[in-house]
Amino acid sequence: MADLIAEIHALEQKAAQAIAAAADAEALQSASQDFVGKKGALTNVMKQLGTLSAEERGAVGKAANEFKTKLEALLTTKESQLRESKYASLGETEFVDMSVTPAEFAATPSGAVASGHIHAISRTQKQLEEIFTSMGFSIVDGPQVEDDYHNFGALNFTDDHPARDMQDTFYTKTGHLLRTHTSTIQIRALERMKPPLRIIAPGRVFRYEEVDASHEHTFYQMEGMIVDRKISVGNLLHLMQTLLTTIFGKEVDVRLRPGYFPFVEPGFELDMKCLVCSGTGCPVCKHSGWVEVLPCGLVHPNVLKSAGLDPNEWQGAAFGLGLNRLVMMQHGIEDIRHFMAGKLDFLRQF
Ligand code: PHE
Repeated sequence: MADLIAEIHALEQKAAQAIAAAADAEALQSASQDFVGKKGALTNVMKQLGTLSAEERGAVGKAANEFKTKLEALLTTKESQLRESKYASLGETEFVDMSVTPAEFAATPSGAVASGHIHAISRTQKQLEEIFTSMGFSIVDGPQVEDDYHNFGALNFTDDHPARDMQDTFYTKTGHLLRTHTSTIQIRALERMKPPLRIIAPGRVFRYEEVDASHEHTFYQMEGMIVDRKISVGNLLHLMQTLLTTIFGKEVDVRLRPGYFPFVEPGFELDMKCLVCSGTGCPVCKHSGWVEVLPCGLVHPNVLKSAGLDPNEWQGAAFGLGLNRLVMMQHGIEDIRHFMAGKLDFLRQF
């Protein structure tokens, strides 16, 4: 019996050493198995219990339990030591050196580090947002996936209007559509806000178009709308002029033509002299010297009615600025397809 107890005490020493030496969780686990596992050293000792009297067995059993308890304590302490040192060294092994500059970005002509920058369309959009918010307009938003009611119905499109044709509109399988213009937000604003109101709504729109130098399937518009008790074409023209002179920093040549849109009456097309070719004719202006940038008009009484407003009490003016075309005029960009092409050489110019 005394031999067995001595053996257990010897195991204690060895186990303490093995645990202290364990370098990681795995080594610790296998040390624990070596001593108290099914095939471990303690099990071997206990196999010899059969030769002993009940009393002796009790004494050895007690020593074995004490051994297990001590071993548990040692294992737990060592485990937490290992965990702590693992996380302490993590900072040295798992860090990202933010000061390293990828060669591609370092290689700018000036040697300066190039960072990303605001897209030409976003920059003009922000500029317009500033002008309009300073005139008391709020910026509102709406979904790109719309329903027929907001894109057409509430905007006074009759059921057989050609713009509803599949040629112009992307439909989803669930009966929704990708908005073809930001005029959807006129309706959403009228639903949410009480007049008098002034809103602008910049956003992405989609058309099932034959793509060429002046037509894209995905482009940007900025809708504007004012609703008040007395709105005239004069108010509308003033807004348009403010907008264009602020963007271009000078008077630009414009012409106003009658234009038909179901949701305005009267409706206009505001064209500006093509700044890509100075009016001599190019693919952007379809060789006419003029570019449609600002369709606009007074809000049709039926649109006001569909929003529950009395057209005898309230009037409105609205415009739908073509942001891509405006930016093309600003920078002399000759092809609308550049915007979506994802070419860095193009983007870096602006
Ligand atoms: N939503 C029209 C379009 O995209 C433009 C427009 C807006 C016309 C507001 C008049 C008033 O073609």
